[in-house]
Amino acid sequence: MARHLITSAIPYINGIKHLGNLVGSQLPADLYARYLRGRGHEVMFICATDEHGTPAELAAAKAGKPVADYCAEMHDVQAEIAAGFRLSFDHFGRSSSAENRALTQHFAKVLAEQGLIREVTEQQMYSKADGRFLPDRYIEGTCPNCGYESARGDQCDNCTKQLDPVDLIDPRSVISGSTDLEMRETKHLFLRQSAMKDRLAAWIDSKADWPVLTTSIAKKWLFDGDGLQDRGITRDLSWGVPAQFDGAPWAGMDGKVFYVWFDAPIEYIAATQELSAQDGTDWARWWRTDAGAEDVTYTQFMGKDNVPFHTIGFPATILGVNGAEGENWKLVDYIKSFNYLNYDGGQFSTSRGRGVFMDQALSLLPADYWRWWLLSHAPESADAEFTWENFQTSVNKDLADVLGNLVSRVTKFCNSKFGTEVPAEVVLTEREEALLAQFREGLAAYEKAMDAIQVRRSAEELRALWVLGNEYLQAAAPWSVVKTDADAARAIIAFALNLIRIYAVLSRPFIPDAAQAIMTALDCEDWSWPDDLDTAIRTLPAGHAFTVPENLFRKVTDDERDDWAQRFAGRRD
Ligand code: 2FM
Ligand code: ZN
Repeated sequence: MARHLITSAIPYINGIKHLGNLVGSQLPADLYARYLRGRGHEVMFICATDEHGTPAELAAAKAGKPVADYCAEMHDVQAEIAAGFRLSFDHFGRSSSAENRALTQHFAKVLAEQGLIREVTEQQMYSKADGRFLPDRYIEGTCPNCGYESARGDQCDNCTKQLDPVDLIDPRSVISGSTDLEMRETKHLFLRQSAMKDRLAAWIDSKADWPVLTTSIAKKWLFDGDGLQDRGITRDLSWGVPAQFDGAPWAGMDGKVFYVWFDAPIEYIAATQELSAQDGTDWARWWRTDAGAEDVTYTQFMGKDNVPFHTIGFPATILGVNGAEGENWKLVDYIKSFNYLNYDGGQFSTSRGRGVFMDQALSLLPADYWRWWLLSHAPESADAEFTWENFQTSVNKDLADVLGNLVSRVTKFCNSKFGTEVPAEVVLTEREEALLAQFREGLAAYEKAMDAIQVRRSAEELRALWVLGNEYLQAAAPWSVVKTDADAARAIIAFALNLIRIYAVLSRPFIPDAAQAIMTALDCEDWSWPDDLDTAIRTLPAGHAFTVPENLFRKVTDDERDDWAQRFAGRRD
């Protein structure tokens, strides 16, 4: 069996994420991790919270808490919600960990020794009242383009124009409100990405099988305009990985930290080290090609806005570090990226509280309902849109009418006619042989789509398998057959009960709770993948006791649909 390393883009610590964030990385990554585990592969699935940078500092200030405390609390909140969605991380780390600090500093030092870091002196806005340099987001003022009075130093939220802090009219500090600002000189470290352009381009070129969405973004950064630029990797902040440390080959970086996008992807590795510190996991086996990771297939999941950092920024770090003796770090093998999910005719908006956030979703319906809708509508080839009508239809038809109904009809019918035991051994008549032949084809299509991480396609193929079972039951009509031939009806039900177990195994990556509920009802713990259908269909022998499960899925009513549409249209308080 193969070994698979899977990472999901790590969500920012500030605030609870919406469903668009969830479907852009964590959820499809979980689907893939569960699928590979289901097929018997060894999987390491890593995620974390992205805790550094100005958004974290600003959110902590708004909450009136020290930033470290704020991050610790929010990490727990996010971890609990992730568990609620059944995200099966092997570890959910924290980018503010000691492991990440050490590794980030180590990488920076090696890059410097490789001649890949240069110092740059820049002009930056300084606030005398606050006694510090202000990052772009810490400066507000009037937009020169539209006159909006609360435009940020990096962008105007009103007219979306990209701004430079010096463009703002009457700029002021977000921290103190002070307008006593001036441009001052400050020194920063830059990663010499331009020196690695050819290596990066050759590496991207070798990835012919990557999604176009991924490679087109990478190529744009490599070749558009003036080509690949060196990138500032430090910031004038106090919260982050300090850019000054024992053995650092540069001076004058006191009070500066590494840019959040420099240390965030390094946390993928550091999170595995955090796990190692907890339970002794051999992290190097996953990340060091001289310690076994050359046999690992590494897949990353992310939204399209994250692609530049994962196709250029992070690989530049790894390729640069790997140039040094004894540094042998694993590069990503496949990057699965997603477009955006929009919400009911507009965008999800964290600041305006538009759309459904992860905690709210779980307060309405169990995780499986959301997992199914989101994955079966994943924004793969284009942006997708969440509407309540569509959600209602999908839940009611796919989950309740197709899968739920099949399970309920078979188990209830068996209970009423033959009791709660598998009523016969499975015998294959022509009808069952025909079903299995179709099923075999459908299963191969499902596996092919899953192997290729075609998320929507996989959902369609799975649903098609559920439909086959329904059609079989409809045509076999045990409720009619039983009137004239009870043994034949028993055989049909024995077959159908075994089919239901196979559905639990196949559906688990999408709807893990329902899959578990089926297995619990069938009193079965055999989750083995139906590689051999003829054997799998005979797993539950005659006489095997089961219980009739509660309805697996309930329907979403029209009233709920309308009520929810109204509730999530606007501001979140
Ligand atoms: O876009 C985001 O939510 C970022 N926090 C993702 C970081 S992914 C990585 F580099 F770790
Ligand atoms: Zn504006």
